[in-house]
Amino acid sequence: MKKRRNILVLHGPNLNLLGEREPAVYGRKTLAELNRSLVAHAARLGLSLRIFQRNGEGELLDLLHRHRRWADGVLINPGAYAHYSYALRDGLAAVDLPAVEVHLSDIRKRESWRRVSVTAESCRAMTAGKGFRSYLEGLTRLAREL
Ligand code: DQA
Repeated sequence: MKKRRNILVLHGPNLNLLGEREPAVYGRKTLAELNRSLVAHAARLGLSLRIFQRNGEGELLDLLHRHRRWADGVLINPGAYAHYSYALRDGLAAVDLPAVEVHLSDIRKRESWRRVSVTAESCRAMTAGKGFRSYLEGLTRLAREL
């Protein structure tokens, strides 16, 4: 039987405003453009995607729970929740799927409170600081885990 390669993509808070939100940090391209790049890259890698953006921590957790049996892996940009959400960190551990965390900006080189990611500890890898490429490289990394 062919191996399933389903990826749940979760964009966290404020990422719906990509393109207009702090363009000097996050760029001028929109979330729709990012999602189109993700779908094209997924096709090259032979992956199926379900993509969601939510601002609420609980909503992101609900999606993780709801799609956990469909998904074989998770690509997540937790936004600011990365820095303090033990609930998301526990959620990622609970569903026990390979996950890769991505950030558009390089959180390791920004404010001190942003340098910590508690959610990354439940992920196999993190890619950050490369704009859209963080997501594409993260997806490639995840494909290797399947
Ligand atoms: C971000 C980095 C976070 O610190 C910030 O809160 C975001 C976006 C990024 O993609 O660079 O919302 O996750």
